Amino acid sequence: MTIQFFSPSLIDEPYLADAIFTPYRSLLTNANPDVVSFVETEKRRVIALILALTREPALLFLHVTPMHRRKGVGQRLLAALEAELAMRSCRYLDVAWARDRSGGEGFAAFLQEQGWPSPKPHMILYGADTQRLVDASWMQAFDILPTGHAIVPWSDLKPEQLVKLRQAIRFESWVPVELVPFNFLGNRVDGSPPEKKFNLAYVVWGNVVGWNFAHRVDAQTVRVSCTFVHPSLQQQLCMLALWREIFNRLTASDYRHIHWVVSVERESMVNLNDKSMLPYLSMRSEILRSRKFLSGKPDVNQ
Ligand SMILES: CC(C)(COP(=O)(O)OP(=O)(O)OC[C@H]1O[C@@H](n2cnc3c(N)ncnc32)[C@H](O)[C@@H]1OP(=O)(O)O)[C@@H](O)C(=O)NCCC(=O)NCCS
Repeated sequence: MTIQFFSPSLIDEPYLADAIFTPYRSLLTNANPDVVSFVETEKRRVIALILALTREPALLFLHVTPMHRRKGVGQRLLAALEAELAMRSCRYLDVAWARDRSGGEGFAAFLQEQGWPSPKPHMILYGADTQRLVDASWMQAFDILPTGHAIVPWSDLKPEQLVKLRQAIRFESWVPVELVPFNFLGNRVDGSPPEKKFNLAYVVWGNVVGWNFAHRVDAQTVRVSCTFVHPSLQQQLCMLALWREIFNRLTASDYRHIHWVVSVERESMVNLNDKSMLPYLSMRSEILRSRKFLSGKPDVNQ
């Protein structure tokens, strides 16, 4: 068995065709200096793959064909990746996975064996089917917005509104760094492209005070990547009005499923989702995260 860097000519290997999540295929095939990937081969056939990003260092994918498991393949690939990232001056590597997904416990045990710290709750991943959201009739109450309020496509914002928003983000402190809207306009780290019909702005008397951005997971599934409303603005009601608009657009689209995540640190948002959306959910899953410092010592700035 040998380990080598992934090469795009391998993408049609039968094992990879089945194993890889669609958006990762484009990450692997577009020459992208932010991506690091190794494969393990046996008799010239790929039997395992590891994929990570370097800018915000994250392990996205590690998979070993079932018949080659528990032979040290995963361990070798992870060690090769960690060495490569350390060489590229990455100080740490993150990995996140759903607690309840099949194989989650085995993966946690595997990481522990490789010296990774115990995982901690990071996000809640919610999922709902379009069909069920139609039943959320109480949301109709949010169809009529207060005077001066409007929800508009992000692409309709005027340059002066965007300039004012950029200034507010820079000089005021109401936008958390991880929810800055301009960071959601392009592809996400996993390669999923923006789904512009769900990119919306919440505007009050012409000022942008909230937004929603979404990305396409596959032909049937869209993921809301960021929803935010200014904390001083009866946040929950404006938030529900944004959701109502998204659900209206969802039922008019070909998407059958919608996913969204909420950081466990945003406790009020988790409570709002758990309280208001519970009857419509098809999925509620806790995402765990572990971070390994590649230098061996926790960095005080992280
Ligand atoms: C998790 C996974 C990558 C491990 O790869 P692997 O090649 O089987 O792992 P290794 O042989 O290198 O395991 C090294 C050690 O980790 C631990 N380990 C690995 N898999 C384990 C499991 N399922 N349960 C408990 N411990 C496990 C063991 O201590 C093992 O040593 P041992 O076999 O001598 O006891 C592999 O099982 C896999 O592809 N799973 C499905 C996909 C997945 O869960 N990916 C991770 C999320 S992206």
